[in-house]
Amino acid sequence: MLLDSDDAGTSTEIFSSTRRKYKSTHSKSTKKVVFPVSSSLDPITIGKKRPAAANIKIVGGHGYDLRQPIPVKYNSVRERFLAARKNFWIPNEIPMGEDKLQWNTGQLTEAEMWLFKTNISYLTAGDNLVPDNMVNAIFKHITANEMRQYLRHVVMEESNHIESYLFILESFGLDDKGQGQVFNLYQEMPELVEKVNWNLIFTNNVVNSDAPPGSPEANRALLEDLISYYVFEYLFFPLGFSQIFALARKGKLRNTAQQYSYIWRDETLHSSNGLWLILQIIRENPELWNAAMQKRVRAIINDAVRLETLHAHAVMPDGGIVGLPVLTYIDFARFTADNICTNLGLKPLFGIREHPMPWMSEYELNHEVNFFEGRVREYQTGTQLTWD
Ligand SMILES: [Fe+2]
Ligand SMILES: [Fe+2]
Repeated sequence: MLLDSDDAGTSTEIFSSTRRKYKSTHSKSTKKVVFPVSSSLDPITIGKKRPAAANIKIVGGHGYDLRQPIPVKYNSVRERFLAARKNFWIPNEIPMGEDKLQWNTGQLTEAEMWLFKTNISYLTAGDNLVPDNMVNAIFKHITANEMRQYLRHVVMEESNHIESYLFILESFGLDDKGQGQVFNLYQEMPELVEKVNWNLIFTNNVVNSDAPPGSPEANRALLEDLISYYVFEYLFFPLGFSQIFALARKGKLRNTAQQYSYIWRDETLHSSNGLWLILQIIRENPELWNAAMQKRVRAIINDAVRLETLHAHAVMPDGGIVGLPVLTYIDFARFTADNICTNLGLKPLFGIREHPMPWMSEYELNHEVNFFEGRVREYQTGTQLTWD
């Protein structure tokens, strides 16, 4: 481990200092600097000039209309939108009969049922937080139409994921009361409450900031929020999926695992878009990525692993389930955190070079597979896998 939690700072120190900073900066400012960032709330005026690609910025762009789909400045973002649209899938069309039978005939142990219930509760809360962060905090800062267009699509996909979790519980035959008991777990467990609130701190730092969009202060808060969002899509979600994939390896809840494979495919695109967005903001605003910010981002990632570790022990209190030792799971979180650091050009935190759970790749769907043509074949392939 290259950085311990003292180096990284605790979440309480990190976030209370952020709140103080934004407050004091604002209260001391006497002269208001105006950042006239383009907004889709700007009234339409006759004679407003058409946007030119050279003038467009990913955040903080101004002087052009955001409502026009051209010119496209960032082609890779446009390509991501088109790829995402090909990935469309419908939870209700995935057969759930085998899982229903297992759930209702006592084929899961107490520990496995607890893991499943807390899993679906946390992931559902997470899939609410991510699009709400986008709508309430991120969207108004984005001044490139192709990114706004893709983010709209992401919001739709997140709602599809929530439908998937609901459909899974419905298909098990749980009534409203039973479903409600599962969905509510995330706010009954301190470890999950802290983890969910952690993401909300970053969202609310953007929402409650008085700094005008496009200003350095607003960009800093946005960048931190995007880092926490990237952690969600790249670390918290795949770690959550791995809990169910571990069950599926033993022949349990394979239908649910199939749903999760489709969700994971969406999240993979979301996280690569999140990374691109972070790097593009840094490319266009290099002064943001100073040594202090880099240190802070490593601290944020380190804190995410701390939260995932607490989560892991709470949902696997007996050291894990058969096929998923909790310490291996935590190593997977550290491995993923190291990848995040590397992707951001930062020194890894933990030095874990090999994937502790390489079997995860068995559940990775080919990005090119069309749901409506490919689901039956993939479903059948899944049932024929032999597990070690
Ligand atoms: Fe999602
Ligand atoms: Fe997502």
